[in-house]
Amino acid sequence: MKRPVAYIAGTGKGIPAHVMTNHDFAAIGIETSHEWIVERSGIHERHIAKAETGCSLGSEAARQAMQRAGVDAGEIDVIVVSTATPDRLLPATAVDIQAEIGASRAAAFDISAACSGWLYALTVAEGMMAAGTGETFLVIAAEKMSAITDWTDRSTCVLFGDGAGAVVLKRSEGAHANRGILSAYMRSDGTLADLLYRPNGGSTTPFSAEVLADRSHYVKMSGREVFKHAVRSMADACDRALDGAKMSGSDIDLLIPHQANVRIIEATAKHASIPMEKVYVNVDRYGNTSSASIPIALEEVVESGRVRDGSRILMVAFGAGFTWASMVVRL
Ligand code: UT7
Repeated sequence: MKRPVAYIAGTGKGIPAHVMTNHDFAAIGIETSHEWIVERSGIHERHIAKAETGCSLGSEAARQAMQRAGVDAGEIDVIVVSTATPDRLLPATAVDIQAEIGASRAAAFDISAACSGWLYALTVAEGMMAAGTGETFLVIAAEKMSAITDWTDRSTCVLFGDGAGAVVLKRSEGAHANRGILSAYMRSDGTLADLLYRPNGGSTTPFSAEVLADRSHYVKMSGREVFKHAVRSMADACDRALDGAKMSGSDIDLLIPHQANVRIIEATAKHASIPMEKVYVNVDRYGNTSSASIPIALEEVVESGRVRDGSRILMVAFGAGFTWASMVVRL
């Protein structure tokens, strides 16, 4: 096991005020039921951004994480934002958040790795810290999935939600020398990109009246195929991160999986031999918030006292690309 380079010094989240329940789909003409959605996914409700943006939610999460870490915006060296739903296509959401929170000394950029993006961002930030690029990082995930959801497609619109999560990452030294990222694993398979994607609206086929008419700028997903790959890849990713940390499932205090579907979460926990009492689930309240799901969950387990400094946490994610990633952290 490697010596940790970077530890999580504070967590935060930003959640839109508006709650949409499964019963609310009837009002927008979607033929579905609370029972179907709960049975297939475990989702009861999700938060949908009305006035909020990725920048406002990400900034709220960042401010909370900085306050809990005892860090001022002026101390931030680097802001890494994971998002599949940037506020604008150019420039990055990270620079909008930088301006909003007043982190005037920071370098800021976005990472695009879909639902795995926040674990990718954390791994990139840790590597930059190891290379000496900075001492204090904000690693944020900010997602407004409702903006890329086809609200006429019942196979996807019931699944997603909006939100943001953030951590302050600081160097593992002094009293915090044993805290931090103990192992990290990342993988991708671009040959399967078309199973979960937005066909048009990018630079190959820019947004146009045709794209608008055929709704091809919205997320398309082959749900059953994605499900199979998610179960397989998240199981493998758990093994890799545990191997890297020289641990087994029984050494883990809490598993925080990406929150897409409670059945995928249960299969992942079973594979890693981690009982469900040691698994955090909040997909029932938020739906799938893409890369924000893990940092939102992390904020909740820290704030509720479910974990504390020294707790060993396994995090694992899977998403479009396909991308998948995992990490063992000593809090
Ligand atoms: O975060 C990135 C990773 N994403 C994921 O991990 C999502 C992975 N996939 C899943 O979670 C599941 O595949 C879903 C929850 C999306 C769907 O569950 P499923 O058990 O795979 O259902 P299905 O797509 O195979 O659909 C079963 C039936 C279909 O009807 P037929 O063809 O069997 O007659 C659908 O038309 O359910 C129907 N259906 C619905 N019925 C009521 C699809 N969506 C709905 C709906 N309400 N919202």
